[in-house]
Amino acid sequence: MMLPPFKIKSVEPISTTTREYRIKKIKEIGYNPFLLPAQDVVIDLLTDSGTGAMSDRQWAGIMLGDESYAGSVNFQHMAAAVKDIMGFPYTLPTHQGRGAEKVLDRAVVKKGQIIPGNMHFDTTKAHIEDVGGRVVDCTIDAIYNPYSTYPFKGNLYLKKLEAAIKPNPGNVAYVLITVTCNSGGGQPVSLKNIKEVSLIARKYKCKLFVDAARFAENAYFIKQREPGYQNKSIRQIVREMFSYADGCTMSAKKDAIVNMGGFIGVRDNALYRKLIPLGVLLEGFPTYGGMNGRDMEALAIGLYEGTEEEYLHYRTQQVAYLGNGLKKTGVPVVTPFGGHAIYIDAKKFLPHIKRENFPGHTLTIEFYIEGGIRTVEIGALLAGRDPDTKENIFPELELVRLAIPRRVYMKEHLDYVIECAKNIWQRRKKLKGVTFNFESPIMRHFQSTFKRLV
Ligand SMILES: Cc1ncc(COP(=O)(O)O)c(C=O)c1O
Repeated sequence: MMLPPFKIKSVEPISTTTREYRIKKIKEIGYNPFLLPAQDVVIDLLTDSGTGAMSDRQWAGIMLGDESYAGSVNFQHMAAAVKDIMGFPYTLPTHQGRGAEKVLDRAVVKKGQIIPGNMHFDTTKAHIEDVGGRVVDCTIDAIYNPYSTYPFKGNLYLKKLEAAIKPNPGNVAYVLITVTCNSGGGQPVSLKNIKEVSLIARKYKCKLFVDAARFAENAYFIKQREPGYQNKSIRQIVREMFSYADGCTMSAKKDAIVNMGGFIGVRDNALYRKLIPLGVLLEGFPTYGGMNGRDMEALAIGLYEGTEEEYLHYRTQQVAYLGNGLKKTGVPVVTPFGGHAIYIDAKKFLPHIKRENFPGHTLTIEFYIEGGIRTVEIGALLAGRDPDTKENIFPELELVRLAIPRRVYMKEHLDYVIECAKNIWQRRKKLKGVTFNFESPIMRHFQSTFKRLV
């Protein structure tokens, strides 16, 4: 049984809308769910980022905000939590994950350098490319098969990684492991793989960073699935995961369960010193870096709450409940289920729609029309265009992500989503796809508008 390890102290109303209203509304805003006013959304599964519900302890922490420009007490608490949980002695706060990416990449990436990893997240890739770097995807092949049941589909393929690094001596800015691998379905990376990647990085004198947004969910999957870890605590597993890395970038909006915030954690004082001037320039003084004191307090508390085993058990069970419910109705979903979201295989859901007419994005429009449910495409639209040839990139996977905000929705909400998905599945053959009305030049999925083919 999926017993939530919390009870509700405060509620937020959601308003229901009619189908006619939703058809009119989505047309009005150009068929891009990112452009919908939130009050017109019934169930918001756009993202699990910054959308979680804070606990009473976190709200209490907010009242202890010390808004000193320099040396805030809350910064000290946050840095102590990062050191205690992740093992990094130096913490540089940033306003969110992409702030951390921006500071890190400007400090360490030189034009023409490569950054191998396991399916870099879109902002991660965009920041690397912004400073002239290039990402190299070294994820194992199982990730491209939505139905492979391999337990660690986020793993890096060591041969690919070595093949990327070897011919580029001195030209690898760093190696990046994203836990869990969001773009590939929220799939975990095993500790064995993290260790092996670190050995390769060390062999070629490359730094190893972790994109840590969902590190706690990754640790939970290690405990569940990786031989030898069943008797370890989540915090022991987390410490081991980070022990192989030189540092991490963190979007605290995920596993630290805050609405805004992030940081860079590093092991080495020289690297920390190198990051500070850019941190000051781009984010803020090193003891606030774009965050309020009160938010740093909530983040410190959230790092502990997000790594509680009981909570992680409930969280992953809730995601699996949605996955199993969709599967039962016939909807093709990526397996194993991810840690923060269920991903629908849009290529299989809408095989008659061409990639350039964005089957995944088409499905997000239908979710909105059917039930006011906001979801997001992770496929050709998000992949954008090749920075050199300007051609559309058609990634192997064309997915629609149903991300579950932390501690927000109940079982009944998920039952409603399953019911709506079933209705779309039944009328799928009538759907036709979209074309651009306006194509935004950078990270086009956020701002582009579309025409719906009829
Ligand atoms: C894996 C991963 N890395 C980085 C980021 C960027 O973080 P933020 O949205 O806080 O800038 C995200 C956001 O969704 C993410 O999923």
